[in-house]
Amino acid sequence: MKKVFVFSALCLAVSVQGLHSENRTHVLSSDNTSLVVTTNDGGAAYYQYFGPKIEDSDISGFFSVNSNYTGHTLPQFGLWSSGEKALAVKMPDGTMSLDLGMEKMERVADEKGELITLTFRDKVYPFAVRQFFRRYGGTDVFSTWTELANESKKGEVELLTFASASVPLTRDNNYLTQFHGSWAGEGMMSEERLPDGQSVIADKAGLRNAFGSNAGFMLSVGGKATENSGEVFGGNLMWGGNYKTKIVAGNHGINIISGINEETSAYTLKPGEVFTTPEFVMAFSQEGKGGISRAFHKWGRKYGMTHGDRLHDVLLNSWEGVYFNVDQDVMEQMMSDIASLGGELFVMDDGWFGDKYPRDNDHTSLGDWMVCKKKLPQGIKGLTDAARRHGIKFGIWIEPEMVNTKSELFEKHPEWVLSQSNRPVSQGRGGTQAVLDLCNPKVQDYVFSITDNLLTENPEIAYIKWDCNADIMNYASPYLPKKSQNEIYIRYHQGLKSVLDRIREKYPEVAIQLCASGGGRVTYGLLPWFDEFWTSDNTDAMQRIFIQWGASHFYPAIAQGSHVSASPNHQTGRELPIKFRFDVAMTGRLGMEIQPKNMTERELEFAGRAVAAYKEIRPVVQFGDQYRLLSPYDGPVAALMYADESKDRAAVFAYRMDYLCDQAVPKLRLDGVDVNKNYRIRDLTPADPSRPSNLDGKLVSGRILKYVGLNVASSLGRPYASVALSLTAE
Ligand code: GLA
Repeated sequence: MKKVFVFSALCLAVSVQGLHSENRTHVLSSDNTSLVVTTNDGGAAYYQYFGPKIEDSDISGFFSVNSNYTGHTLPQFGLWSSGEKALAVKMPDGTMSLDLGMEKMERVADEKGELITLTFRDKVYPFAVRQFFRRYGGTDVFSTWTELANESKKGEVELLTFASASVPLTRDNNYLTQFHGSWAGEGMMSEERLPDGQSVIADKAGLRNAFGSNAGFMLSVGGKATENSGEVFGGNLMWGGNYKTKIVAGNHGINIISGINEETSAYTLKPGEVFTTPEFVMAFSQEGKGGISRAFHKWGRKYGMTHGDRLHDVLLNSWEGVYFNVDQDVMEQMMSDIASLGGELFVMDDGWFGDKYPRDNDHTSLGDWMVCKKKLPQGIKGLTDAARRHGIKFGIWIEPEMVNTKSELFEKHPEWVLSQSNRPVSQGRGGTQAVLDLCNPKVQDYVFSITDNLLTENPEIAYIKWDCNADIMNYASPYLPKKSQNEIYIRYHQGLKSVLDRIREKYPEVAIQLCASGGGRVTYGLLPWFDEFWTSDNTDAMQRIFIQWGASHFYPAIAQGSHVSASPNHQTGRELPIKFRFDVAMTGRLGMEIQPKNMTERELEFAGRAVAAYKEIRPVVQFGDQYRLLSPYDGPVAALMYADESKDRAAVFAYRMDYLCDQAVPKLRLDGVDVNKNYRIRDLTPADPSRPSNLDGKLVSGRILKYVGLNVASSLGRPYASVALSLTAE
């Protein structure tokens, strides 16, 4: 017999065949997606469903036809020990098993949406788990994570496996899309049919955990998904350190176990201590991979980054223009140039600091965050004054987690470096770079003080580029006791987060860029404290098409630092027209990274027009929905577009990456338009304003744009040709 008790508007209690007698069913629903979890008082909790939205009235029918789409929400080791687990601990008496029973379920509406909290307690040991399920308001993104509490008065509990999530997914001809790479070649996409058994996406860099592989992945259900069709699950982990996601495809379904990578990285809970695992964020789309990306972009702007609702400035960064050769005159010349091109911010990169050891190259000075008086006799004030005179904002580069062994800081505090007294310090960039021990609260205070001093002494600093050019090399903390040495990977990140919390609390307005030798930290583990990331040190617009394509799968355009640099490009040596370089950089947060003094008159004239054109479409690019149209992996033309929420304004970009005479070029079918509107097309960046694209000025219906498409073959009729178009509904 089926019993249904109304528990709350969205929370029903049903008796389910195959489960324990009194199971309560909890439904969290966004506009398009539902998550269904059942709990059993005194027992376990099970996932029942995560997919297209279902109504409360569907629930009893759901259970009458469905009894096997269930997975324990937190499979634990010890009593039913076979298979992969999300949680394994060692109790003070050596017991390795857990037997959690649910004590309490709470459901609240809060400023972020809705939150369900399940509290479990072990039936024998003083150990509790709180498991959270969040629906993020105004988005289709959900999340789950846990708190693990050692409630004993004296014994320590060792955490051996402590994943944030263990989420089941329907097994049905699934395809896994993931992103791998390295320095200057980040975010390369691969898509393969999910094999039987385990697939693992993991990274163990310690700090730059987005180079080797990104924590964001997609899994289709029921065949390969396209950009606009097919069912897709998207997941990502909000942890900036080592992570591991295991996708276990067995005969009965798929289980996705994701969390901090526990390899060589355990954690011991002291009596009374609570450990919080990072959030696993997830979405489900019936609109293909593009649907997952748009859900994450919307969520990212609202919850996953700082200032996702504020337009980001067009900037000039000094790095590729002058490298370490900064001084008052050249900085001022660059400020004057970017101001005259219509830019809004100038960022002085590396090279400005060091007193005893001036920072003339990458061998010295990290840690000595005082102005190099020889280069900048008027100090930072001289620069902020100059920026004010030129009517732009000023930003500055720091790399606060690091030290060079040739620095005053290292001479004073060698014990602040991650290293072991009886072994040599491993040294990275420049042969002298080492990592500060952020496990140590004194080092945390010091790292906080770097930003704090800069901003209190120079309140006009509007932007900070926070860099990180090393990984954890010497795995040893002089601060942590011997028995806690296996906690460095975790404690470092806890320390870093507490520094970032303090910075954000005191300086909520300042813009901060997350950089790690380029895209080493393209991660939602750290983005919540930052305004954007530096997508890659590779500024070659051709390769950037691929790198930005990869990043766009989870991270919004407003967060992607994307700069126009010199030709030939400094990383690849490739020569590209200025138009192509701008048309690529305009799809993210546009900037320049070049010495304007070395640009030709024609390039400068074009740059001024392109900056103005970008400002026109900036709200569409930075706040709009992105549609990837033609993949650079599939043919000679890559294309993408952005549209605002009302679909009244859009911007379209297409690039000719490869050229063979009379080669087939697919039409550009604009998925992001409203078929019921008519759009006026305008060429945003004609190379010669008197000869815009043949599409300029045309009024075309959304139906034609979407179903027939634009023929861009002639506009893209040579290598490295590109078009940037704006569409305005009339
Ligand atoms: C890293 C960054 C670059 C630049 C240099 C400065 O490589 O990714 O953008 O800031 O450091 O040393």
